[in-house]
Amino acid sequence: MNVLGIETSCDECSVAVVADGRAILAHQVATQIAEHARFQGVVPEIASRKHAEWIVPVFRETLASAGLELSHIDAIAVTNRPGLIGSLMVGVGFAKALAFGRKLPLVGVDHILAHLYAPQLEQEIAYPFLGLLVSGGHTIICRCDSPFDMHILGTTIDDACGEAFDKVAKFYDWGYPGGVVIDRLSASGDANAFSFPDPSLHKGEHRYDVSYSGLKTAVINQLDQFWNDGFEKTPQNVAASFQRAAIDMIVRRLLLAAEDSGIERVVVGGGVAANSYLRHVLLNREDLKVVFPSALLCTDNAAMIAGLGYHLIQRGDRDGWDLEVAGRVSGFRRGYP
Ligand code: KG4
Ligand code: ZN
Repeated sequence: MNVLGIETSCDECSVAVVADGRAILAHQVATQIAEHARFQGVVPEIASRKHAEWIVPVFRETLASAGLELSHIDAIAVTNRPGLIGSLMVGVGFAKALAFGRKLPLVGVDHILAHLYAPQLEQEIAYPFLGLLVSGGHTIICRCDSPFDMHILGTTIDDACGEAFDKVAKFYDWGYPGGVVIDRLSASGDANAFSFPDPSLHKGEHRYDVSYSGLKTAVINQLDQFWNDGFEKTPQNVAASFQRAAIDMIVRRLLLAAEDSGIERVVVGGGVAANSYLRHVLLNREDLKVVFPSALLCTDNAAMIAGLGYHLIQRGDRDGWDLEVAGRVSGFRRGYP
């Protein structure tokens, strides 16, 4: 079964065709990074307008690039939650029109569950595993028991992990996207130059939670307080010290979850999964089996939507023309989705 996937939840406009939830037949990801760069952050109104302009050409290009036609498509899967409302509406509106016009089954897909399904498009990963989802919008440590069955263990109580990278880079005017620039600067910096604090949220229901707002404030407003003698206050040193603190914070919680659950398999996803230090730390741990999907499947993409969409359709899920979008997903902790 060939499922056409559509992803427009944030600033990537993407369409893919995936066969039987596994083989990517066609995949295009048009990123809006250049459109948002001068604002050093995603501007929701610009994002939805660009999706409206791009969705038809990206769809056409996806089919054409693989020599596919609409007659080869058996079902439509579209991200309908969570994300930017206006952006989601463009993808969902387009998906409905396509499904209606071609009389195809339609299914709405949860973007978070899709990220955790993404590595299955490259290799079969057995359940259960722990998921670490870190991007500009998500910071999630979870346990996955099936493609649909996910239990959130920890999250951020304020800023998302990638958002902290973006805000620090924006404050120092280092460039956009912040995570990419900080990763690059850190390569020639010394992470020992500043000792930024780790928030103590380890108690009770916050055992696996992180908080980035204190770290952000320390890096932006209290640099001198955490500065170590003998080091220069260069952008490279600030970046490297911040990066280490930000990544160590989430890795510590992940290790705690692995220890508590006895699960050693970990799947990483989201834009921050590209981070060199995070990869270095996790891939060198002998007690964990860590999977990083390829770069294209870590960031927002439609292949993961088509892949998970296939399984939803197989189990009988169908959505109608009343399929709605949701910016946030409720019951984030008490059971998901
Ligand atoms: O998954 P993504 O493309 O979009 C969403 O936010 O959903 O992730 C983008 C985020 C941005 O915050 C960006 O700064 C961060 O991922 N990022 C990185 C790196 N590359 C991208 N953060 C740290 N290190 C990187 N190498
Ligand atoms: Zn995402």
